[in-house]
Amino acid sequence: MKRNILVATLAAGTLMLAGPALAADAAKGKAKHDEACAECHEADEFADLSAADIEKTIKDILAGKVKHKEKLDPSIADVAADLAAFYASGG
Ligand code: HEC
Repeated sequence: MKRNILVATLAAGTLMLAGPALAADAAKGKAKHDEACAECHEADEFADLSAADIEKTIKDILAGKVKHKEKLDPSIADVAADLAAFYASGG
């Protein structure tokens, strides 16, 4: 009995960890945009680009491959897909 509970707990934990990587979350992206990007960027500024392109550009900025006015916090990498989903949807 105890063992079943342990297995179920582990399974639920794994699902929670896997979640963010599986699906981009535009609402989460909006929250990060409002917090870290809205000062300089309009929400619809990148709406003509695909989510994949936006995500790549954000990662290139983080990697120093694309010049950017402000150094982005490395933690932005964790929400790059979410930001991209938000921007690509038109903000
Ligand atoms: C201090 C102002 C400032 C902040 C804060 C800022 N940016 Fe920028 N960003 C700029 C400027 C200026 C440019 C270049 C002109 C433009 O495309 O708007 C730029 C360009 C970009 C580009 C296009 C780069 C290219 O060459 O195609 C992306 C993508 C981008 N920013 C993402 C972000 C994201 C995501 C955030 C928040 C995590 C952010 N920026 C925060 C000023 C800022």
